[in-house]
Amino acid sequence: MNQSRPPKTPTTFHVKSFGCQMNVYDGERMAEMLGAQGMTAAAEGLDADIVVLNTCHIREKAVDKVYSDIGRLRREDGSRPMIAVAGCVAQAEGAEIARRAPTVDIVVGPQAYHRLPDLIGKAVRGEAALDTDMPAASKFGALPGRGKQSRPTAFLTIQEGCDKFCTYCVVPYTRGAEISRPFAAIVDEAKALVDGGVREITLLGQNVNAWSEEAVGFDGLIRALADLPGIDRIRYTTSHPNDMTDGLIAAHAEVDKLMPFLHLPVQSGSNPILKAMNRSHTTESYLAILDKVRAVRPDIALSGDFIVGFPGETDADFEATLALVEQVGYAQCYSFKYSPRPGTPAADMDRQIAPEVMDERLARLQAAINRHQVAFNQAMVGQSTSILLERPGRHPGQIVGKTPWMQSVHVLAEGAAIGDMIDVDIVSAGPNSLAGQLVRRKAA
Ligand code: 5AD
Ligand code: SF4
Repeated sequence: MNQSRPPKTPTTFHVKSFGCQMNVYDGERMAEMLGAQGMTAAAEGLDADIVVLNTCHIREKAVDKVYSDIGRLRREDGSRPMIAVAGCVAQAEGAEIARRAPTVDIVVGPQAYHRLPDLIGKAVRGEAALDTDMPAASKFGALPGRGKQSRPTAFLTIQEGCDKFCTYCVVPYTRGAEISRPFAAIVDEAKALVDGGVREITLLGQNVNAWSEEAVGFDGLIRALADLPGIDRIRYTTSHPNDMTDGLIAAHAEVDKLMPFLHLPVQSGSNPILKAMNRSHTTESYLAILDKVRAVRPDIALSGDFIVGFPGETDADFEATLALVEQVGYAQCYSFKYSPRPGTPAADMDRQIAPEVMDERLARLQAAINRHQVAFNQAMVGQSTSILLERPGRHPGQIVGKTPWMQSVHVLAEGAAIGDMIDVDIVSAGPNSLAGQLVRRKAA
């Protein structure tokens, strides 16, 4: 470590997060923590004294991105910022990172980032600064509280880790065993976010619907948060089919503030592949859950994750995945080519799939997903809906809001401000967003 070490104690920082929303949340918490230490945020990495790369290990491409970013952190005069690698690459590769990228000063895992200030001190003193512990005591208690927020929407991590051990996935190794944050801490953080101007909270966890505390299940937590004044919308992601309890499904019917959107990854439409993935559900049990949710909340928008080219995936297996997509009619989906991850069982399986076969399957799957996404958006044209205004649009006076079903709506909303909930008529729809016309302002 510490090749061409930048000597000074940093006063400015830049945090860049890769990968999932939980990383975005961790990145925000790290930024808030460095801010609480008296540092200020720099817009660009090269303008900062310390750059924190909050990394993702889920697929090989994500890892490659980090190393190319590290390589680019060099200024014209030959100097560079202090570099901290955080997140799942830090956890998975540890000291190996410094061998592959000698300019890295700090390596800090996702369960240890509350110790970043200490690690910065070590790096300044020229000491090894590596912390990939997974302490039993939660890091959350050691972080500063949430203050004023820049957006009306916020993430709140309530659960971390995974005990499911899907055979392709690194998460159980990088994020550790499933843990639920305490109910009281979550409610306190939600209140602080509302005080900081937030109206919509997205509850996060690798298996968010596995959250529980003694007698309280995930749906109980949602109901308690919905009772907090100031919260208008609640979302959650990512769920596992095995943890879709009847209580959670009922909450979709009974809790108005719980948005009608469900991201429920299935990964494949073929039972033999699901078995080889150790998914512990079948296509039939998955579809039965969707039927139950749709029965109580017919307008629910569905989303999923798919992996193509898992070892042993035949043409027939892949056709079964396409058939599932047709049957469900997802509002949106994420789809990926299988990426063998070191240390996972699937990486050593026979019958790995050729890259060109994966490319072809991914293209066909994405075409099917896009067709459904367009149809889902088109079906909104002519309807009115409420949207939460989240950010400025590209054109003057334009604001972008979200429908309850997660679609972005561009609207000219004179007199309205970011953070307002307004009613719009949807006038047109594209694959990725809708255009709306202001109906009237809702009383806040
Ligand atoms: N290769 C490709 N995709 C993966 N995912 C997880 N591990 C892998 C892998 N090794 C996908 C799954 C998961 C999403 C977050 O990433 O679809 O739901
Ligand atoms: Fe990975 Fe499976 Fe756990 Fe999701 S449920 S984080 S895919 S092991």
